Amino acid sequence: MWCATTGKTGARTGMFAFAAAFVGIALAGCSGNKSAPASTGQTGSAAKSYTIGMSQCNLGEPWRVQMNADIKEAAEKHPEITMVWKDAQNKSETQQSQVRELIQQKVDLIIISPRESRPLTRPVEEAMDAGIPTIVLDRKLEGDKYTCFIGGDNVKIGREAGKFMAKLLGGKGAIVELKGLGTSTPARERHEGFMDGIKGSQIKIIADADCQWLEPNAQREMTSALSRFPQIDAVYGHNDPSAHGAYKAAEQEGKGREKQIKFIGIDGLPTEGVKYVREGILTATFQYPTGGAEAIDTALRILKGEKVDKNVTLGTKLYSKETVDSGGQPL
Ligand code: FRU
Repeated sequence: MWCATTGKTGARTGMFAFAAAFVGIALAGCSGNKSAPASTGQTGSAAKSYTIGMSQCNLGEPWRVQMNADIKEAAEKHPEITMVWKDAQNKSETQQSQVRELIQQKVDLIIISPRESRPLTRPVEEAMDAGIPTIVLDRKLEGDKYTCFIGGDNVKIGREAGKFMAKLLGGKGAIVELKGLGTSTPARERHEGFMDGIKGSQIKIIADADCQWLEPNAQREMTSALSRFPQIDAVYGHNDPSAHGAYKAAEQEGKGREKQIKFIGIDGLPTEGVKYVREGILTATFQYPTGGAEAIDTALRILKGEKVDKNVTLGTKLYSKETVDSGGQPL
């Protein structure tokens, strides 16, 4: 059946569709009806199919490649799903236009992992206005005009990192904080949580910088900190690439300081942060799940007309020398 609101061919067949077209209720029942996806009443043999647009802000970091891989793996278990992939290559303007392209394409649902909160808020509002349910993954937007947010608790992760740091340094020390992109929410939340975690200790942040989540930036900032501060006890990297960039800077300085300084990161990918912990490069990393599988699960429920929670918070784990072999300690 052809749907007048979306211009799509729906899956309903048989007498119900035939009758519906004549009594004028076809618009409410056609596949891809954005405001109220129908979940029942299929009488034909063809299954309903869905197109999901995935707007990824960047594929330059392993964690985001993993997020897309998790989404792909989950989506492939459902032959009724067709994915449309967009990569904004770390540019908010590109991501804005890519979301608008998905709206024009009339996809059935959008999943977005936004680069920055403010610039991506409006395009998602436009998707919602067009009746396209939208799942926001990992980084938050402003306001609450979206269908569902799925992500880790960055304040909690930051707090756990702060508590771990305070214990590791025996309550005092000089540290460098290599922050994520300040206009993205995880960076603000990981900082806020960390400050709470070290509260009451004598840990001082002697240098900090917005490294935009990127390893080369972190390496550059750490090179500068090393040249300015003879005593650095630890580095708090907002993600594993930042912590690793800092380690490389210390190594390249050639004074063996990478052996004295403790490095802590966040993400905990098996092939990245967890591997660094095993190699003794990082003292600890905190798992930051991608939410890819949960996004597909939630998307299907939304598309079938089920009610879903507005916010889904994912857990975390601590990977340190003591916990890495047992698969990490859930926090
Ligand atoms: C990848 C990344 C991760 C980080 C997340 C925060 O782009 O920087 O390393 O945990 O984004 O949104």
